[in-house]
Amino acid sequence: MIYQYKNIKMHYEPCLDGGGRECYPEFLQIIQEKIGKVNSAFEFCAGTAFIGFSLLADEMCEKLTLADIEKESVECCKKTIKENNLENKASAYHSDCLKQIPAQKWDLVVGNPPHFSERQTNLPQTIVINVDKNWEIHRSFYTDISEYLNPNGSILLVENGRGSSPKVFYDMIKKNGLRVAEVIKCNLNRPSKFYFMLVKKN
Ligand SMILES: C[S@@+](CC[C@H](N)C(=O)[O-])C[C@H]1O[C@@H](n2cnc3c(N)ncnc32)[C@H](O)[C@@H]1O
Repeated sequence: MIYQYKNIKMHYEPCLDGGGRECYPEFLQIIQEKIGKVNSAFEFCAGTAFIGFSLLADEMCEKLTLADIEKESVECCKKTIKENNLENKASAYHSDCLKQIPAQKWDLVVGNPPHFSERQTNLPQTIVINVDKNWEIHRSFYTDISEYLNPNGSILLVENGRGSSPKVFYDMIKKNGLRVAEVIKCNLNRPSKFYFMLVKKN
């Protein structure tokens, strides 16, 4: 299926959509207000990359890197890149967290990672979209991300208050030379209490 935002037509399948189509406008708004335009951006746990491609379409970044552990999502990203002639601006990796991504530096990292540390019986979506067992994905991300961030770089992740509170992530962030700049309430009109963590490199 195709979802179009401005001049970019994104390939996706509904089963791969983890909510990015709903929350990308709020990412754009927060980035415009609090961070501004950057040279390089990365979408962590990108899925089919509604958030990343919308940044590119809005010219909020010049270069975009995407990665996901799900091969089908990465294939969609690659199709979007090819069919929109974005080969000089965007690249997509099949990667477990940051492990298979070649060394590079970003100014901004965005992401909508799995939100629950254990399986939720009421959620219809697959485990890979929802579950971060014992927060191992978040821990691996925060451990490795400093190496990929430029000085003064920013991280903006959306989290779900039904699965976590900001405190869950504080130690992982602090331990790795990063700091929580702000926790921002999400305005999405949903029963879930989504919130954004804005994290900066010290
Ligand atoms: C909540 S969904 C978000 C997908 C997309 N960013 C969106 O907003 O629609 C979480 C994504 O994390 C990916 N994921 C899960 N475990 C991962 C891991 N270890 N490394 C990279 N991506 C992972 C899933 O495949 C899924 O695409």
